[in-house]
Amino acid sequence: MRVTITVNGQRHEADDVWEGESLLYVLRERMGLSGSKNACEQGECGSCTVYLDGVTCCACLVAAGQADGRRVETVESLGSDDALHPVQQAFVDAGAVQCGFCTPGLVMAVDDLLRNDASPTELEIREAISGNLCRCTGYGRVVEAVRVAVRRRRDVVVDR
Ligand code: FES
Ligand code: FES
Repeated sequence: MRVTITVNGQRHEADDVWEGESLLYVLRERMGLSGSKNACEQGECGSCTVYLDGVTCCACLVAAGQADGRRVETVESLGSDDALHPVQQAFVDAGAVQCGFCTPGLVMAVDDLLRNDASPTELEIREAISGNLCRCTGYGRVVEAVRVAVRRRRDVVVDR
């Protein structure tokens, strides 16, 4: 089957896609977008989090055919090596990146949180990242990174 997906604003086509192939596989192996990580392939870890038509989901649980004709944003849409997204920068500055395997998924989850809530409570932060497993940080640094991102965004708004 041929699948056509708009990924990060660009139309992509993939041919000979097998019915059981996941969106994650198509993104990583066919489109060369390796930012979304493949850790469990069972919807348990959140490392493959992407936006599908603006809603976050685990790309490993979405069949590629389900994404046909739809819009996907991956972590590559947020920032680049030269210009990190504010949430990515906050993760770096707060020491929330250790092995980094969970980081793309966490960054997507936090971006989604902050798009909808400019000033989340600690409970809301922890709830927002509850679907993202991290084996390294113990989550304290991740929560701090979210606070840093919130503070910086507030400071920018106040300075205007
Ligand atoms: S790889 Fe998709 S949730 Fe773990
Ligand atoms: S930083 Fe290693 S799994 Fe989260």
